[in-house]
Amino acid sequence: MSLIIQNGFIVGEKHIRKADISIENGKIQTISEFPLSFTDKGLHVTEEIDAAGSFIFPGFIDAHTHFGLGGVSPTADDFFNGSLCAAYGGITTFIDFADQEKGQTLRESAESRIKSEKDAVIDFTLHQGLYTMHADIPEELSDLRSLGIRAVKLFTTYKEFGVCLDETSWDEVLSLCKDLEMLVTVHAEDDEVIEKASRNLRYTTPGPEIHALFRPAAAEYSAVRKAGNLAMKHQIPLYIVHLSSAEGLRAVRELREMGAEVIVETTPHYLFLNRKYLEGENGEGSLFLMTPPLRDIADNEVLQQALTAGEIDIVATDHCAFTRKQKSEKLDCREIPFGIPGSEELSRVIYSCGVENNRIDLVQMMHLLSAAPAKVFGMYPEKGSLLPGTDADITIFTPHDPEKISFSAHPLSLHSNSGYSVYDGFTSMGKPSVTILRGKVIIRDGNFTGHRGLGKFVPCGTPAPYRNL
Ligand code: URP
Ligand code: ZN
Ligand code: ZN
Repeated sequence: MSLIIQNGFIVGEKHIRKADISIENGKIQTISEFPLSFTDKGLHVTEEIDAAGSFIFPGFIDAHTHFGLGGVSPTADDFFNGSLCAAYGGITTFIDFADQEKGQTLRESAESRIKSEKDAVIDFTLHQGLYTMHADIPEELSDLRSLGIRAVKLFTTYKEFGVCLDETSWDEVLSLCKDLEMLVTVHAEDDEVIEKASRNLRYTTPGPEIHALFRPAAAEYSAVRKAGNLAMKHQIPLYIVHLSSAEGLRAVRELREMGAEVIVETTPHYLFLNRKYLEGENGEGSLFLMTPPLRDIADNEVLQQALTAGEIDIVATDHCAFTRKQKSEKLDCREIPFGIPGSEELSRVIYSCGVENNRIDLVQMMHLLSAAPAKVFGMYPEKGSLLPGTDADITIFTPHDPEKISFSAHPLSLHSNSGYSVYDGFTSMGKPSVTILRGKVIIRDGNFTGHRGLGKFVPCGTPAPYRNL
């Protein structure tokens, strides 16, 4: 069975060109500058898509999600619904996280997370959390690597949840990751700086509007520098997740200046939302609460300039959705479940606020959302490219007249069980109209045509930064 996509503009690694694509058995077969048609020799076309006026991207990758979290306040979007939102957003692969589960090896932790991801409608892979060191970790990491998980997540904060890796263990973990060519990714907020800032604050019930006072940008600066210094000492690449501030970026710049290989991920919310939203109308500030917190407009501007200048490598969402009810149960910003939805809005916001506002071009957008995450996490070219012979994961993105993003309005309604979007009211200038996963159309003009469990685990190879060193 084959599918052809005609008349679209393919967004490639260097430029955009008009070409047709044929897909056979889930793989890209040909990219042709000459129009393909039903009658072309050698093609047994069963379906045609006319992509005139649209841009064709390698399926987007959301490199940072938290779907299906359990616990006292479970996330609103499980693996089915979270991945459905992502699919509507033109995403064909997401990367979620496995906790280091007590009493389980790293491989067992990852395997049980993979099992719970079985309902996903798009492909997925994992980053593995590493929270405590013990004698078996070297062997466990190597075993994890053979499963195709090549990135670990380390925390410099969240001591209260038991995930902050002890400072004395960092050297050993980094050295092991270097030997195994595994990517070290870091949530960079220095708990010492946070504790110090919190000690000086006197509030009976600190609301969301002062969240940033508890978790200042200085904490991000400090953690990025500390992790970066260690990465330099071990001569390994370092991946910073959800960079939120100008201070954090300053630390990245200093490290890069000294020769460090730092890969930077940020999110649409740190680019385009600021702490004014935490003040919220009608007590809705909590809907915008995540960690690190939203910063100032000046931080948005610095990160936007960095995006334009190519200093940011990946834009992901950190989709971690809670319902309005969950968000409004507590008033203290330290107790409100932290996290927001965003996978569905990712490409729409980056296109509308990035490409349409001339901050980036379409090729940059393709790198930020497709090629770079695939390369960095060892999935390229199978994912993140439109090369013949690779998975036919394709997003057809269609510009449109200005429309307001609105959670409830038809036809722009969104699918997160959270019941809201932090981008409500943003002007959208385009959206994914067709999402294709391994040759199968799963979203077309607002309709889901895939099914629960269609997604597959993607084993990762060597992260590209290890090849650049
Ligand atoms: O608020 C957030 N970001 N929630 C998810 C957990 C994390 O730190 O990424
Ligand atoms: Zn984090
Ligand atoms: Zn996260």
